[in-house]
Amino acid sequence: MSRLSDPPAAPMPAPLGLLAELTHRCPLRCPYCSNPLELVRAAQELDAATWGRIFAEAAELGVLQVHLSGGEPMARRDLPLILRHAVQAGLYTNLITSGVVADARRLAELVEGGLDHVQLSVQDALPGSADRIGGYAGGHARKLEFARAVRAAGLPLTLNAVVHRQNLDRLPALIDLALELGCGRMEVAHVQYYGWALRNRAALLPTRAQLDAATATVAEARERLRGRLVIDYVVPDYYAQRPKACMGGWGRQAIVVSPAGRALPCHAAEGLPGFTFPDLRHTSLREAWERSEAFTRFRGTGWMPEPCRSCDRREQDWGGCRCQAFALTGDAAATDPACALSPQHHLLDLAVQEAAEATDAFTWREMGRSPAPAG
Ligand code: SF4
Ligand code: FES
Repeated sequence: MSRLSDPPAAPMPAPLGLLAELTHRCPLRCPYCSNPLELVRAAQELDAATWGRIFAEAAELGVLQVHLSGGEPMARRDLPLILRHAVQAGLYTNLITSGVVADARRLAELVEGGLDHVQLSVQDALPGSADRIGGYAGGHARKLEFARAVRAAGLPLTLNAVVHRQNLDRLPALIDLALELGCGRMEVAHVQYYGWALRNRAALLPTRAQLDAATATVAEARERLRGRLVIDYVVPDYYAQRPKACMGGWGRQAIVVSPAGRALPCHAAEGLPGFTFPDLRHTSLREAWERSEAFTRFRGTGWMPEPCRSCDRREQDWGGCRCQAFALTGDAAATDPACALSPQHHLLDLAVQEAAEATDAFTWREMGRSPAPAG
């Protein structure tokens, strides 16, 4: 029971978005995949009815939009049924896809089912390089075909370009591609280094000159294309002085649900040790969001060590990224080393040096084979 002298409890934030990772199956093998190293197999995936219950609970909790993602969500034969559940729950539906397994009939089914929006990933503007990065011959051409079908069906399209050392020089061409495909929005996201991307960090990390050129390209394009193309820009942490508010803060804005039904504060959280993530086959989304230790451990500022604890940015960046802190320091509760105030900030400089001497060789994502930890 609370006492009169207790400080008022922090208001419980309402999650705005739910990232539904319907499957980890995917024909592509991107070396920066945001799926965990241990991929969930088809037999462990939630069925459509359970997704339906989760969507209804999400809407009741205040979630406005669901991102149907993966892996490749189109690898699920029952995607139209899953979509229907999301539409019935009243959620805005966004399909995040690689676009390589879709055909016109399957797209038409989704359009009829009420799909609101499509986000299509591309690996590069050069077909040969795009196919190499995605580990899928002919993939780029199929993506372009799919993008045109999406626009012909009248759906809004966002192009997702994950950028890194091996494609950044084509950023102007990627922006041109977004225009040519009729996208209203584009996300230019520098790779974030956990899981598969951490394993491939030395082959992906851009140079400082590349980053500066990319930032200038985005600024120029935003100005020139005002009213035609919105460009969201996610910068890399490795040259930063202050970290980003990862996921808008732990347990503050978004819920990720893994293919096996685990509720996660971010897509990489399963890589953190010492957590039991709520199993939504047996736990309600509200219980997971409001009361589970997994969501509350790093929510707010009470868990913070110095220098975050007394920093005036602590409610802006929420101490940065827990997964990056763990990946770089072995301690998920440490200040994110992307912050120049972190005693371990020098680790980022070491990674930049290592990347400067590395080759472009990748370890591609592979089902059933976890790569060795980054050395
Ligand atoms: Fe953010 Fe912590 Fe760095 Fe302050 S010390 S800027 S709260 S990461
Ligand atoms: Fe997990 Fe940033 S990716 S907290």
